[in-house]
Amino acid sequence: MALLRCFLLLCGVADVARSLSITSPDHMIEKAKGETAYLPCKFTQGPEDQGPLDIEWLLSPADNQKVDQVIILYSGDKIYDDYYPDLKGRVHFTSSDLKAGDASINVTNLQLSDIGTYQCKVKKAPGVGNKKIQLKVLVKPSGTRCYVDGSEEIGNDFKLKCEPKEGSLPLNYEWQKMTNSQKLPTALISEMASSVITVKNATTDYSGTYKCTVSNRVGSDQCVLRLDVVPPSNRAGTIAGAIIGTLLALMLICVIIFCCHKKRREEKYEKEVHHDIREDVPPPKSRTSTARSYIGSNHSSLGSMSPSNMEGYSKTQYNQVPSEDFERAPQSPTLPPAKFKYTYKTDGITVV
Ligand SMILES: *[C@@H]1O[C@H](CO)[C@@H](O)[C@H](O)[C@H]1NC(C)=O
Ligand SMILES: *[C@@H]1O[C@H](CO)[C@@H](O)[C@H](O)[C@H]1NC(C)=O
Repeated sequence: MALLRCFLLLCGVADVARSLSITSPDHMIEKAKGETAYLPCKFTQGPEDQGPLDIEWLLSPADNQKVDQVIILYSGDKIYDDYYPDLKGRVHFTSSDLKAGDASINVTNLQLSDIGTYQCKVKKAPGVGNKKIQLKVLVKPSGTRCYVDGSEEIGNDFKLKCEPKEGSLPLNYEWQKMTNSQKLPTALISEMASSVITVKNATTDYSGTYKCTVSNRVGSDQCVLRLDVVPPSNRAGTIAGAIIGTLLALMLICVIIFCCHKKRREEKYEKEVHHDIREDVPPPKSRTSTARSYIGSNHSSLGSMSPSNMEGYSKTQYNQVPSEDFERAPQSPTLPPAKFKYTYKTDGITVV
């Protein structure tokens, strides 16, 4: 009996040594930009592990300049995930019951800046455990363009090119011929897995539709090109036609531009003339006050101002008007002196 108890104790000691353990294996995950990465971290705990459960995920960014960052923490039955701005709102525990032994996380909408080593640390004293996962984020090939570089003439040399706009290396290429016996000309077979195919001494056998498929570990993209190998004379004809057409179009454009320009100049001239006439007209703004129109007509130097400015100007002049002006006012035949003085009084200015 005593022996058995001793044995159990030994087992207990042994348990402490390998009590809490993380069962998910260390590994590497590769995902495409924009996808979700599932980072597994499942653990088992021993009977000795009675302390509070703490889970911490750290990120060592691929950029060596950056230090390790806590990205999510579970402690005291609470989840804290507002540590690392680059991952804000994109890290979540996948299990709703972490105590059941699942500390896995999902990182959503993956970005290239998420590349790095993620470390899951689980602590339930005296048990501790941790594991690392390397995350790689790759960009799928996209925006791939196929085109012929050179002139597609019999006897000529030219290139067929397949260029993705973006995509993480390494990229694999595969050319296929879709029409005309669906076989790549034998001369091209050696190049069917490269970005550029070089055609030498072309024949009409090369004509047809070609498809290029670009792929990397996370995705693929395709493009298609139509190749028409034609006799050189034919080419010359089409080129001459194109040149003549272009020249005609250029002439037409020149005529249009000339006409527009001329018209605009005429309009501009008309506007200027019209503007000059308007400037000579005395500012029409006057309310019922006859005094304002009087001042306006006397200050001919204000003629160069626009009517809208004139309004403000005549107002200030009106307020600062010297007393001599009022003495002269009655000389105007259209303004009876009595009415004129009356207007000033109602406006609150004392006439001397
Ligand atoms: C975690 O991401 C995986 C896909 O990688 C998805 O199947 C799973 O439903 C996600 N879990 C949660 C809780 O969002
Ligand atoms: C091109 O091909 C034609 C037949 O297809 C051949 O007669 C000619 O010699 C070739 N020219 C060169 C430069 O290889």
